[in-house]
Amino acid sequence: MSDNALPPVRLRADVLAVPAYRQGAAPSAAGFKLSSNENPFAPLPGVADAIASRGDVNRYAAAAMPELRAAIGAEFGVSGEYVHLAAGSVAILYQLVHAAAGHGDSYMYAWPSFEAYPSLGLASGATPAGIALTATAEHDLDAMADAITERTRVILLCTPNNPTGPALRRADFDRFMARVPSDTLVVLDEAYREFVTDPAAVRGEDVLSAHPNLVVLRTFSKAYGLAGLRIGYGVGDPAIFRAAASVAIPLSVTGIAESAALASLTPEAREVHTERVAAIVDRRDRLVAGLRELGITVPDAQGNFVWIPEAADLGTPDAAAGVPDALALAAAFAAVGTLVRPFAGKGVRISVGEEDSLALIIDTVREFLAQLGGAA
Ligand SMILES: Cc1ncc(COP(=O)(O)O)c(C=O)c1O
Repeated sequence: MSDNALPPVRLRADVLAVPAYRQGAAPSAAGFKLSSNENPFAPLPGVADAIASRGDVNRYAAAAMPELRAAIGAEFGVSGEYVHLAAGSVAILYQLVHAAAGHGDSYMYAWPSFEAYPSLGLASGATPAGIALTATAEHDLDAMADAITERTRVILLCTPNNPTGPALRRADFDRFMARVPSDTLVVLDEAYREFVTDPAAVRGEDVLSAHPNLVVLRTFSKAYGLAGLRIGYGVGDPAIFRAAASVAIPLSVTGIAESAALASLTPEAREVHTERVAAIVDRRDRLVAGLRELGITVPDAQGNFVWIPEAADLGTPDAAAGVPDALALAAAFAAVGTLVRPFAGKGVRISVGEEDSLALIIDTVREFLAQLGGAA
């Protein structure tokens, strides 16, 4: 059946008008999958055993998961009561927008950012408000603060910003929060926090207690390499999470995911986790340097991905430093069996993956530019 086939039943026109979230596709056998910001390493030591020995899958998992929530809470200096689990942090994003923003309300985010943001409030009838990034691919926090209205119910801050890379600085975050009404929910989406090396970047642990209207989101999908198990968490006021739970799909977090997350937090697993994060950060930094050597203006990369802007989207005097066409560059990668994520008219996001993928990335971009006779 074609994608354009009409549904056989009456569905909401506003829902039909919005394209569904598109997952990164699978690469060819010879290539790399660098399109979904996944972790190239196998799960941490102890995780495979924890999954294999979780025998009670004939039962629903006990949803409270106090041991895991307490372990996460300890990292933030709060009790497990302040921790909310879900089948991926994206599920918490949905819950929070639904809990806070109804018909006629709006939810705000920088754009481009995580591709799921625009449709988060669709089913609740709330209106998305994407505020353009600055020329350096960062949140324009002044413009975002200026755009807050009486109907703004949720503000999503993505740090580091997926897909462009820069993290929010603590000082800028503090200034922004001072302009946000204290009864407006702010979500600090730190899905990639473990990869951040900028000491000036904001960190959920450091700012949570000062802002009762703040929820910090993290995930086991990225640095912990458990994307396929679907487990993420929020840290914040328990009353906010009670409302989130009211609109959540019940019983979504599996016992296997719970066991895998707990096994990822043992001292032995943490040690390997730290080494692997350092390896990914090292690859990221080498990738950024290699792309910049080709003349491309790569924004500060603080996650496990790098951003190659389209020249036309840079809008700066050095606009020669991007690629002319994101889709064409992604096609050049596809031709060598490798998947990256193009954002039409904006740029290309490349996840930091296997060591061997680095040379292939640089070679592919170099060749792409050479065929064009240099950067656009
Ligand atoms: C910024 C951001 N937030 C949240 C998520 C969702 O992650 P998960 O649902 O796997 O925890 C992603 C996934 O790519 C992301 O990029």
